[in-house]
Formats: sequence, structure tokens, C-alpha cells
Amino acid sequence: MIIAEPFEALFNIALLLFLFWFTLHIWVDLFSDLPIIKDVLEGANILNSRWKRQVELVYIITYDILFGQEISFVGDAEKFLLQRKVSLQSALARLLVRKKMKRIEDLLHHYQTPDVSKPRYVRVNTLKLDVDSALIELRKQYMVEKDDLVPDLLKLPPKCDLHDHPLVMNGSVFMQGKASSMVAAALDPEPGWEVLDACAAPGNKTVHLAALMRGKGKVIACELNKERIKRLADTVRLSGSCNIEVFHSDFLSLDPKDPPYSKVRAILLDPSCSGSGTVAERLDHLLPSHAAGQSANVDETERLTKLASFQKKALTHALCFPQVERIVYSTCSIHQIENEDVVKSILPLAASHGFRLATPFPQWHRRGLPVLEGFEHLLRTDPVEDKEGFFIALFIREEGSVIHPSLSPDSSHLSLVERTKRKNLSKKEARIIMPTLFGGMFKMFLYSKPSFRVNLK
Ligand SMILES: C[S@@+](CC[C@H](N)C(=O)[O-])C[C@H]1O[C@@H](n2cnc3c(N)ncnc32)[C@H](O)[C@@H]1O
Ligand SMILES: *[C@@H]1O[C@H](CO)[C@@H](O)[C@H](O)[C@H]1NC(C)=O
Ligand SMILES: *[C@@H]1O[C@H](CO)[C@@H](O)[C@H](O)[C@H]1NC(C)=O
Ligand SMILES: *[C@@H]1O[C@H](CO)[C@@H](O)[C@H](O)[C@H]1NC(C)=O
Repeated sequence: MIIAEPFEALFNIALLLFLFWFTLHIWVDLFSDLPIIKDVLEGANILNSRWKRQVELVYIITYDILFGQEISFVGDAEKFLLQRKVSLQSALARLLVRKKMKRIEDLLHHYQTPDVSKPRYVRVNTLKLDVDSALIELRKQYMVEKDDLVPDLLKLPPKCDLHDHPLVMNGSVFMQGKASSMVAAALDPEPGWEVLDACAAPGNKTVHLAALMRGKGKVIACELNKERIKRLADTVRLSGSCNIEVFHSDFLSLDPKDPPYSKVRAILLDPSCSGSGTVAERLDHLLPSHAAGQSANVDETERLTKLASFQKKALTHALCFPQVERIVYSTCSIHQIENEDVVKSILPLAASHGFRLATPFPQWHRRGLPVLEGFEHLLRTDPVEDKEGFFIALFIREEGSVIHPSLSPDSSHLSLVERTKRKNLSKKEARIIMPTLFGGMFKMFLYSKPSFRVNLK
């Protein structure tokens, strides 16, 4: 006991130091992220006492309205702020004038003191430039290395500001975070496929898909919001891809059996979400009431419930496309209700359509929350450790699971590749297979895809 005391004292000092560092950290974040939103809200002068009490939520939604994803009418806070969108926008415009700046990007850059610990990532648009040339070009100015996980992704030091770089301006590289770049890579579409990006704008993942497919096949980019279609079209133009078709439509209203969609082999579903893994979360953990994953108040709970309900509907719809073999579901949210819970709720339906969870990036150690069977297949990134909170689930339907074991001669339910493969049997293979008593099962074994590029558990 006597010996233990000095250790206890040391421990207490260490604890105090840690708490001090932690608090300091929080305040540094607060000052780097909030000022522009605070200034806009002050300038617009729209908050009454009710909303002043829920200032965290107001910050998050205001940020989304001005700079982030399009908000749909879900909760009271969104309604309140969306009705005042014009006031917010003119307050932002006045701020722009006051700071003598022309573009909103410049204003954002002026306010942002870059996070000293967050590496910058750029994804090479391989439709325009190969990775090694990009590396040589960027190394003239920066320390650059290839990312260890995502092919085509380059990692730069935290403070690099690339938004005016010629390679960014001409679409040879896209500024895209690591987690965001993992999504299309997890789907891993094959060149020549037809692929659907269900909720596409602003289109960073859409053009990533096109690059992964090396310009072969077709990407259908569906987007509901008319204003955001423009940004999507700009991204597509900048990327130089010519096999992306932009559709202004509600994904839920697409008929999976209609000819343009009936041949779709892979779907990327990155629906509207709370954004709690990105900006909102950085605002969130400034405020103790918003501990990770917990929703702080009734308004936010309502918002999350409505988002989750759309997410479930959209994922359910994705399962109905007859030729789909791979579906990626992703969010930039940290909330279980938008992530594991959505997957869990559609799992029985997915299984009945022959889908199961597969493991995107098996070497990545951060997996889903253990609240459903198969959680270890799910992928998460952490808003603090990885600097962004993302969630990725990958569903696959193996060709074998579409084949009925009875091997009915009617093969209309098989995918095109499967049918072609069957016709491509060499005579030798045919001699081995056909007389076998258990021909059906053996055939299924032979044709089950031996090496899927995404490792499956
Ligand atoms: C999270 S963002 C997608 C980001 C995009 N994947 C990217 O990486 O650039 C979600 C998008 O889905 C759109 N959206 C929401 N509901 C939709 C629906 N029912 N059908 C199609 N798009 C929808 C939103 O307008 C928003 O642009
Ligand atoms: C983009 O800019 C870089 C650097 O100026 C140049 O080397 C490259 O050829 C340009 N690419 C295209 C497609 O315009
Ligand atoms: C999408 O790409 C643009 C252009 O490179 C970039 O400014 C933006 O931050 C990217 N958005 C996301 C969510 O990665
Ligand atoms: C079948 O054979 C043709 C011609 O040899 C070839 O072009 C095609 O890619 C093959 N299909 C498959 C699925 O192996």
C-alpha cells in the first residue's frame, strides 16, 4: 500500500494532464469548425429562443443546407431552417462581401484552419491520368504516397491545399476522402457491366465507378434533386467519362424490370443520411450532449428515424433488380440506426433473394457493431481515429445461388455471363460433367466463381 501511493499520485497527475489535453483539443476543434456557421446564423438573425436551446442541431443542419447534402423535409428543425434558406444564403453572401472574397470555396478555406492531423487524399481519375504519372507530378510539390488500401488513392500531408491545383482543376485527380473512395472500390464493378448509382449527386462515387470500369459498360446515375443534378453533371463532365447516363428521377420509382435497369449488375446505394460521420460529427463531439451514436433530443431522433426509413426502402428496392449481383450500401453516418439496423432489418429479405453479406476490405480492422449476425462483414471508419465516420455493407449474390439445384433446362433466370459460360464449355469439360450422377451439384461447384476479388469469409 505504501509503495502504491506514489504511483497513484502519478496516475492522478497523468489523468489530469490527459483531461486538460482533451479539453484543449475540443476547443481547438470548436474554433476551427464553427465560426462560419455562427457568423452566418448571427447575420441572418433568425433563431428564436426555442432554437437557441438546440444550437447543436441548428449548426449541423445549417451547415448541410449551405454546404452539405440536400436536406429533405424531415424534422421541425429542418423545416424551420429550410424556410429560412434564403436568409441564410444572403447572410452568407454578405459575409462573402465583408471578407472581400469571390467564391464560397475561398471563404470556407479562409475559415478552415486545416486539421493538423488529417491527411489529404486525392483519387487519381484513371480515365485521364495513370497513378504513376500523377505521383510524379504531385511529388514535384508534395510528399505523396500511395494509399495502402484503395488502389488509385494517393495520400498527402495534412496541410496540403490542393483545391487550386491544375490536376484538380482539369479532373485528372479528385479530392476525395479515403472512406468515400472505399465505397466504389468495395463494389468493384467489372468493365462492361451496367451499374446503377442510385443516389448519385454530387457524383464523386459515380465517376469513380466509371474509372474502375475503365470506361467500358455503362453507369446509370440517378438523382432526385434537380439542383444537385447540375453538380452531378459538372462532376461527370470534369471526369471525362462518356459512359455515364444521368437520370433525374426518384430511385424508388425506377421499375427494376424496365429495360434500362433490368440488366443492371451492381448497385451503389449511398442515400441521404444524417452526415454524422463527417461535418456533423466534428461539430457533435464538441458538445458533450452528442456522444457518439446517441441522439440528443427528440428532433434529432425524429430526423434519424425518417432517414432510416428511407434508407431501408431504398435498400429493399435495390434487392429487386433481377440481374444484380452486388450491392453496396454506404453512409457517412456513425449512427447504428442508419447503419447496422438498416442492414439487419433487410437481411431476411436479402437472403430470400439469394444475397448474403460479403467482406469489403478484409484487411481493414474496424468492422460493424456487434448487433446482428454477420456484423464482422460490415465495415466502419471512425470519425476520430480515421477522421471520418463511414459505414459500408456489401451484399453479393453468387451466380450459383441463382441456379436452382434441379438444373431446369430453362436457363432464362441465369445471368448472361452464366449462360455464355455454359455455352463455352470445352468438349473435355462437357465429357466430365454430363454423365455424372450428381451432375447438377458438380456443375454448380465448377461454376461457382473461384476467386472473387473482394475476399469473402
Ligand atoms: C449522400 S448523397 C450522395 C453522395 C454521392 N454518392 C457522392 O459520393 O458524391 C445522397 C444523394 O441522394 C439524393 N437522393 C435522396 N433521395 C433520393 C431518391 N429517392 N432518389 C434518388 N436520389 C435521391 C440526394 O439528393 C443526394 O444528392
Ligand atoms: C491536366 O493538367 C496537367 C498539369 O498541368 C497536365 O499535365 C495534363 O496534361 C492535363 N490533363 C488534361 C486531361 O487536360
Ligand atoms: C467531391 O469532389 C470534389 C472535387 O474534387 C471535392 O471538392 C469534394 O470535396 C468531394 N466530395 C466528397 C464528399 O468527397
Ligand atoms: C465465351 O467464348 C467467347 C469466344 O471464345 C469469348 O469471347 C467470351 O468472353 C467467353 N465467355 C465467357 C463468359 O467466358
